[in-house]
Formats: sequence, C-alpha cells, structure tokens
Amino acid sequence: MNNLEIRDNRLYFDGCDTTELAEKFGTPVYVMSYSEIMRRINELKEQFTEKYPSSRIAYASKAFCTTGMYEILKKAGACIDVVSGGELYAAQQVDFPAECVEFNGNNKLPEEIDQAVSYGVGRIILDGLQEIELIEAACKKYQKKMNIMVRITPGVAASTHDYIVTGKKDSKFGIPLVEEIFLPVIEQVVDSEYLEFVGLHMHIGSQLFENDAYLQALDVLMDWVARIKDEFNVTVKEVNFGGGYGVTYTDEERKPYSFFMDPMMERLQKRSEEIGIPCPVAVIEPGRSVVAEAGITLYKVGQIKEIPGVRKYVSVDGGMGDNIRVALYQAEYKGIVANKAEEPLEETVSLCGKYCESGDILIPEMKIPSSVEQGDIIAVLSTGAYGYTMASNYNNNPIPGVVLVKEGKAAWMVKPQTYDQIIQNHVIPDFI
Ligand code: LLP
Repeated sequence: MNNLEIRDNRLYFDGCDTTELAEKFGTPVYVMSYSEIMRRINELKEQFTEKYPSSRIAYASKAFCTTGMYEILKKAGACIDVVSGGELYAAQQVDFPAECVEFNGNNKLPEEIDQAVSYGVGRIILDGLQEIELIEAACKKYQKKMNIMVRITPGVAASTHDYIVTGKKDSKFGIPLVEEIFLPVIEQVVDSEYLEFVGLHMHIGSQLFENDAYLQALDVLMDWVARIKDEFNVTVKEVNFGGGYGVTYTDEERKPYSFFMDPMMERLQKRSEEIGIPCPVAVIEPGRSVVAEAGITLYKVGQIKEIPGVRKYVSVDGGMGDNIRVALYQAEYKGIVANKAEEPLEETVSLCGKYCESGDILIPEMKIPSSVEQGDIIAVLSTGAYGYTMASNYNNNPIPGVVLVKEGKAAWMVKPQTYDQIIQNHVIPDFI
C-alpha cells in the first residue's frame, strides 16, 4: 500500500510512526492519509477531468464524509455527491459551493429536498416519479429552478457482492427502463416550469475491476438518449456513470481510472455522433477508490485465547462497530502488527473484535509473529472507505475518532465519541 513503510521494526503511514499515533491519540482509531487522498484526486484529474475537458468528478460522500474531507475536496476543486440531509448539512458547514453538490437517493425525504433546493444544489438525481412533485413544491417555495438528472436502471449485472450491485433490473434504485414508465417521467421533467432536464445517471455497482458492465450499461443509456431525442426533441447534455472503481484490500489488482474511462469516453463520443448530438458532459462519482487505501485502523491487542488444536483468538479493542464490512459482505483485509512490523510471521490466528457477537471477526486468518502480546498495536489496512461512515454504537461502544496524517504531521479530523455523547439523547419517559 502506498505511503506505508517499515522503519526499525515499526509501521509508518504518511510519515508518521503508527505506534506513536496509537499512544498519542488512543485506540481504536482511524488514520487517514492526506497525501494518499490527494494522489487519488490528482489521478482523477490527470486521467479524466483534464484529459476530457468539461467532464467532472462528484466524490461519493458516503465512502468517507467529514467536514475536513469536504474541505480537502473543496480546495481540490472537486464536486460531491450527497445522499442525505446529513451529508448535505456537513457540506453546508464548510460552505461547499452549492452548484458543486449533486443529490442522489432512492427515497429523498421532503425535508431533505427542501434543504437541497433552498441551498441550491447543482443537480438533483431523480430516482422516482413521486419525487417530481416534492422537488417542484420546494422550487415554488424558494422560487428556484433545479437541474435534474434522471437515474436509470440499465439492467446489467456487474460482478461483485450482491449487496452492492445496483444496476440490475430488480433494483430499488433508478427508474425502470420500461417505455410506459420511463418516457412519462422524462416528459414531466421536460415540461415542468421548475425543472431543467439535464441528462441521465446510472450506477451499476461497487468494487468493480472490469469495464465490460460499464460499457454495456452505457450502450443501454445511449439508446435512451436517442429515444429521448426522437420522442421529445430534447438533447441529453450530461451523463453520469456513477462510481464503483475497485480498490486493493488484500491482493486485488487495482486498475487505473483510465482503464475504465478511456473506453467509456470513446464509446460516448461515438454514440453521440451516431445519434447526432454534441457529446454530453461526462460525470463520475468515485467514492471507495478515493479513500479506501488512504485509511488504516489502529487497534490495541487485549485478550489472547488459545483453544488447543482448534484456533487462537487475538482480540482487539474495536471490531464490528468500526468495521461492519467483514460481517456484512465477508470483506477481506490485511493486517500488520505495527510495533513488530519486521518480525517473521510464524503463527496464524483469528483477529477478533470486542463486540458481543461471534461474527465480530476482523481477519479470520491473520499471520502474526509468535511474540504478539497484550498492548501490541495492530493496523488493519485499506479501511478508509465505508468504515467510519458505517460505524455504529453497538454495545454502546463509542465511535472511534479519525486522525489525519500528512508527511509526518498528525491531527484530529474527527474526535472520538464520548460515553456522554452516546447517551445524550436518551430520555427516561415519566411513566416508567
Ligand atoms: N454513486 C452512487 C449513486 C452510489 O450508489 C455509490 C455507492 C457510489 C456512487 C460510489 O461507489 P464507489 O465508488 O464507492 O464504489 N457500503 C458498501 C458500498 C456501498 C456503495 C453504495 N453506493 C461497502 O462498504 O462496500
């Protein structure tokens, strides 16, 4: 992994000694590398936005959303995709440019739509018929016109975990591509005095390593671009391909953005010419690929339990509350003993968490030095995406803080939760 190095038996991340970070900031703690985030943003610029002028990236906030992250993106000139009032609220706290915010979601609440319209977000990605009325009502209230992208369900099956496939026909996301459903939606948007129809959106799945499903979905999308032109004499000005670009957790081989984007852009240009429209603006929504490898989680070793002839459990002070991905998707991670980083890996153990659940295993089979003992620091790698954002308070364990590191410097990005904060909204009803 980038920005990870071993010096004198210790693991360093973006110039910081991770064992020292654990001592100074406590454990469990998420650590995010500023340099690694910037490296990915620069790759996106080189391989996409600068190569294809007028294209745009809208970072998918759901992968890792904090005010500091929004500040980084704002400075880098990137746009963001938000899927809730909460993500939008955090963006508003750093005065994220409203026109650079794109609002997704399959069931946007009336109050979320109100919040988005009043802030004046750049795009609302329409995900259902009933949403039109809600958006129009908010537009009327604030006397604004909203740019609308319509999300389609292209009906392709990308190869990834079932829970993160979104583009197949049977999906809660997007408008089904059935003539009698889809065309009236477009017609309503086109005819509305409050809505500006901008284009079509798709997102087929996550953690993808091949480009064929993207290209298939693009073909489907472009057929409907042609259809919209024929039916309504309306030109699609923008297309959004969503996110999904795969990352390295253990031994997956990450593909450069250009592997996905070059053939997509070539096909987009070709199909636009055939249809007889100017090539639409292309937008992508990478989330995981920007932050996954930019994050590690540090834990401290507690109980070590050996079941003779069966297995050895090494427990740490976090677990499924800070990383639900193993239990939810059977996700695989690599770990390393941060303060014994150069010692030979002689033993295989199960790295488990402290939560009251048998499924709370972080790494079912981890190789470690046989000298591992209480107090050692374990780093689990590639936890920057969907770790912090999917954290929970299960067992009333606090959600760990996030430290940002950059070339040897380290500072809180999110402070750890306190017990008081966990129970601050608890109320004892007076009839108890
Ligand atoms: N755009 C849309 C509309 C999406 O639904 C998603 C992810 C993205 C972009 C970003 O996809 P990415 O580039 O991060 O793959 N919690 C799961 C991932 C769920 C992804 C949901 N949508 C996980 O931990 O693997």
